[in-house]
Amino acid sequence: MHPDIDETVIEALVRDFYGKVRADDDLGPIFDSKIEDWEPHLRTMMDFWSSVTLMTGRFKGNPMMKHRLLRDVEPAHFDRWLSLFGESARNVASPGAAAVFIACAERIAGSFKLGMFGVPGLGPMAFPPGGPAQTN
Ligand code: HEM
Repeated sequence: MHPDIDETVIEALVRDFYGKVRADDDLGPIFDSKIEDWEPHLRTMMDFWSSVTLMTGRFKGNPMMKHRLLRDVEPAHFDRWLSLFGESARNVASPGAAAVFIACAERIAGSFKLGMFGVPGLGPMAFPPGGPAQTN
């Protein structure tokens, strides 16, 4: 997808970004309430970004459902998430590669927001019949 994106830059991005997330007053507590052992989460996120930008298919998961099950997340948290992610992407990657990471993150954040909060005025989309699927 972009010649400057490889596993090394993905690892640098994931480590830089989640370092910022953990130190952030708004986002840090949300992640800390769910994640006890950070190294496996960072590995999952490297698999995710490798699947998204290098098409390696390494990530297997249901991130939409995991995010829909999070409590205390508000739409504004996504603005903060994207702002820190943009800083990290520009910090570790070339301008062209950073633009690819940021464009993917914005698209995915938009779809998570739709699944979590729905369309303003209509509310969130219903879970499928039978309730939320088991995610792990
Ligand atoms: C307000 C913004 C966000 C918050 C607070 C948030 C929070 C979290 C948390 C707490 C987890 C761990 C869930 C668990 O293990 O049960 C998680 C997992 C994950 N997040 Fe986010 N997230 C946000 C936005 C995003 C965005 C924009 C992306 C993608 C561009 C993303 C991709 C993922 C992925 C791939 C996982 C792993 C899911 C899995 O293990 O199957 N997140 N997130």
